[in-house]
Amino acid sequence: MALLGVNIDHIATLRQARRISYPDPVVAARMAQDAGADQITCHLREDRRHIQDADVPNLLKAVSIPVNLEMAATAEMEAFALKHRPAKITLVPERREELTTEGGLDVVAHRDVLVPMVAKLRQEGFFVSLFVDPEAEQLRCSRELGADSVELHTGAYCEVPAERRGPELKRLSEAARLAKELGFFVAAGHGLNYENILPVKKIPEIEEYNIGHSIVAHAVLVGWERAVREMKALIA
Ligand code: PXP
Repeated sequence: MALLGVNIDHIATLRQARRISYPDPVVAARMAQDAGADQITCHLREDRRHIQDADVPNLLKAVSIPVNLEMAATAEMEAFALKHRPAKITLVPERREELTTEGGLDVVAHRDVLVPMVAKLRQEGFFVSLFVDPEAEQLRCSRELGADSVELHTGAYCEVPAERRGPELKRLSEAARLAKELGFFVAAGHGLNYENILPVKKIPEIEEYNIGHSIVAHAVLVGWERAVREMKALIA
């Protein structure tokens, strides 16, 4: 059975919209754990648009399941990881102007930065994953870098209309097979929702999914009526 990593970034997005204390992503993480999440994933971005520095140690204290910290391959983030020691690190690309992580980390182009960083993190005992596009060249280079895992970027698959998904699904499935052959723990994520997950979950090599936005969006609507009713009762 594949594992579910619940990404809590957008709980923090809601909080940061008002720069107040709620909704607290740490509370959401604990609730996700109680609901069966196998891992909590969060992305501490350079611009701190959602998750804040203090959320990470708070999270590490609050949950017993592994915390997967997504971060850019920078010296600042390496120092942060070494200080707080999440169980797992996923290196992701980052550009300030992007709405979300667009495209995988180009491990071929950034090889020189990644060689020492992956080696250092592994030597320090972290489980290191690389978030890459489902391409053979990226996977082979990830192998040379010595990562433990790759997370296949599902964004391109999620963007195409359902009737034209075939080629992207094939690309994902072939990449997952190659990743497994190369000895990786195989994760996947980005843009997955309650509908487009169904064809992907048939790919047997994918062992873990990291999903955030669709779960937060669904939670808002699933909880909406109750939230309105409770406020109505308070002012009645
Ligand atoms: N995996 C990685 C590496 C990501 O960067 C993201 C987005 O932060 C996700 C998974 C989750 O994507 P989504 O929020 O679209 O489910």
